[in-house]
Amino acid sequence: MKAIRILKRRSVPIMDSIPIPSPMSREVLVKMEYSAINPADLATLVGAYDEKSEYPVTLGLEGSGRIESVGQELDARLIGRRIAGYFRIGSWSQFAISNLWHEIPDDLSSEQAAGIMVNPLTAISILNLVGDQGSFIVTAAMSSLGKILIKLGLTQGKRPIGIIRKSSQIEELKQLGLENVLDSSSKDFPKKLKEVSEKEKPSFAIDFIGSTITNSLLKVLQPDGTVIIVGNLSAKPCEKVDLTNLILESKKIKGFHLNDYKDNLGNWESILRQNYSLFVPKIASIKNWTNFQEAITEYRGSLSSGKILLKIE
Ligand SMILES: NC(=O)c1ccc[n+]([C@@H]2O[C@H](COP(=O)([O-])OP(=O)(O)OC[C@H]3O[C@@H](n4cnc5c(N)ncnc54)[C@H](OP(=O)(O)O)[C@@H]3O)[C@@H](O)[C@H]2O)c1
Repeated sequence: MKAIRILKRRSVPIMDSIPIPSPMSREVLVKMEYSAINPADLATLVGAYDEKSEYPVTLGLEGSGRIESVGQELDARLIGRRIAGYFRIGSWSQFAISNLWHEIPDDLSSEQAAGIMVNPLTAISILNLVGDQGSFIVTAAMSSLGKILIKLGLTQGKRPIGIIRKSSQIEELKQLGLENVLDSSSKDFPKKLKEVSEKEKPSFAIDFIGSTITNSLLKVLQPDGTVIIVGNLSAKPCEKVDLTNLILESKKIKGFHLNDYKDNLGNWESILRQNYSLFVPKIASIKNWTNFQEAITEYRGSLSSGKILLKIE
């Protein structure tokens, strides 16, 4: 089969030929139709998640397609079902292996379903960590995941505070029902963040950026509060952390990766089923997968425009 792979750290991705993998125990082999591009794929391309990768690596975390075959512990009647999956062996390939998948309902297209696993499951896990706390802060609030956290948080009665870096995005977020949207590029951002936090008293901040904003978040959280690091979109080290926040106020900085939570997702399928309209990402464009280089460049240049899908043939 064909698969888009990188052969070693930071090498240019290529369309490679490899054997079709076999599903084990409770896994399914899926004939892929559409695969999403995610920031984690961009991170793999630049070698940022190097310690987690074994080369050669097939790119792609999620997508949609039909079950081609099943492991020994699954019912063969599943073959042919249309599913969305989170993939152990990369989804940018003609066939991929999953053990975390969801049957696509008839009223959802395979294109719409190609991006409904990684970010929705991440949002469900993170909001489980946030628990009953009323308010939480989200950076990169215009990202697909940021918007899901905001929309799902609002349906749970929580009060999200969104941070963006382009004032042109404020209106769209307000339309989602978000009362507090702050622009990190404005001069009075530190003052506004302090004011809003004194009023809303958040105990959690969900950070996708890193660099200097992590410390700004830590500073305004309630005592015992936690900054959950979910991404490092700045691609810079976390800077200037004021340790007195950790020592005197018991605040914490905690990393999150979906892989570590995927076996404890609780009733994720029923949450997914009840909230498709919140979870289906905006699709910016669909490209034939042979044009993957162009698709990667387009996605990198305009992340907030929505997901770019690869049509696998
Ligand atoms: N740890 C996990 O398990 C896990 C799971 C899922 C996702 N994630 C992470 O979650 C984040 C969001 O993913 P996504 O799929 O929702 O992304 P996405 O839809 O592609 O959007 C990325 C967003 O980040 C903003 N952005 C990019 N670089 C930035 C910077 N240096 N400073 C501020 N904003 C920046 C972009 O806004 P502009 O319009 O301003 O460019 C855009 O809105 C990523 O970091 C991803 O790796 C982690």
